[in-house]
Amino acid sequence: MLENDIERILVSETEIIKIAKRLGKQITKDYQGKKPVLIGLLKGCLPFLAELIKHIDLYCEIELMGVQSYHGGTESTGNVKITKDLDVSVEGRDVIMVEDIVDTGRTITGVLDLLKYRGATSVEVVTLLDKPEGRVKVLTPKYIGTTIPKEFVVGYGLDYQEFYRNLPYVGILKQQVYKK
Ligand code: IMP
Repeated sequence: MLENDIERILVSETEIIKIAKRLGKQITKDYQGKKPVLIGLLKGCLPFLAELIKHIDLYCEIELMGVQSYHGGTESTGNVKITKDLDVSVEGRDVIMVEDIVDTGRTITGVLDLLKYRGATSVEVVTLLDKPEGRVKVLTPKYIGTTIPKEFVVGYGLDYQEFYRNLPYVGILKQQVYKK
């Protein structure tokens, strides 16, 4: 049913699993001897976080944080609001933030600054998708799944008006969906 709303698939489920394996392996290598805390940004991070952690062979913790930047539409408003704060302290911790997509970079830089202010030893970003053409803030995530053009995408955690997060791939919506 949902697939009827999709114009075309941009990143398939097979490709996403391959990406998670590659990034998980890289993180495992880079954090040898450390116990990082992975902080997923709700809600979009969930499918990618779940896949990624299967491929990280470290003593790592998983935490979640709620941040809102888009308010149901397809353009960033630039307002970063914390809707669910962390339950743990990040002081002295190596933090890896897990994102579905980095577009303007406002969400991630807002959270990055906050975690550094709270005393994290290091903060890096792992994102499934990167849309560098949309960037407003200077930011290059250390771990990037794949780079995509400046198009609005849904699936694998990414939503349009809270729907489509459950699609097992990343795709572009048909224009007519926005007119509904
Ligand atoms: P940024 O603050 O502009 O980098 O946007 C990051 C957040 O905006 C992501 O975590 C998503 O929730 C949302 N976002 C950015 N681009 C898209 C998109 O193409 N589809 C769905 N959500 C998006």
